[in-house]
Amino acid sequence: MIQVSASILSADFATLGQECIRVLDAGADMLHYDVMDGHFVPNITYGIPVLASLCRALPQACFDAHLMIRDPIRYTPQFIKAGAEWITFHLEAVPDAVEQTIDLIHQSGAKAGGSICPATPVEALDPYLDKLDLVLIMGVEPGFGGQKFLPQTPERVAAVAKACAARNLHPVIQVDGGINAQTAPLCVAAGANNLVMGSALFGANDPAEVVRAVKSL
Ligand code: DX5
Ligand code: ZN
Repeated sequence: MIQVSASILSADFATLGQECIRVLDAGADMLHYDVMDGHFVPNITYGIPVLASLCRALPQACFDAHLMIRDPIRYTPQFIKAGAEWITFHLEAVPDAVEQTIDLIHQSGAKAGGSICPATPVEALDPYLDKLDLVLIMGVEPGFGGQKFLPQTPERVAAVAKACAARNLHPVIQVDGGINAQTAPLCVAAGANNLVMGSALFGANDPAEVVRAVKSL
């Protein structure tokens, strides 16, 4: 079954709690919490206190924090304490400390995700596939919601899925950025089983129908 992680970056922040409830009611499996620090990516979003408030308000919801930040080691324990069940960091941010970051996430009590930007060869994930609970292939350059899906993404997903299958490994294979009714089937056909959706979900007239369509792929 395909899972949908709703990227709340596309929500109306004036009513963020209600927006989370709206997409969970529509059938989203988890909430994707995009953290940007203005250094790793040229944008700034929200951090630890906002996540803590949301987790307190929505104790049943599963939060997947996508850390687009330069120093994930420094902040990971605080995001987990705030309530994130999944922490995904970028390999590009900690080229010499990927394993250390994964271990820290696990020791702090969360599931570990490793992400790569579009320019990073997918083989960069290979040494860590046996330790990662999730791999995140970006469908856009990280930094902003509402961008156009990069056409090379499905073949990158397929390469990662193949590498996992060859070693009998089963991490969640997540794709983030530019996912909509047209691009979701391409990612699923390539082997993805978790799709992040921001603008296509929050901007939909009927978000439940959008989730239903993706989950039935
Ligand atoms: C981009 C973020 C994505 C983004 C997805 O840097 O990591 O999660 O919010 O938004 P859409 O689905 O609109 O591309
Ligand atoms: Zn994201």
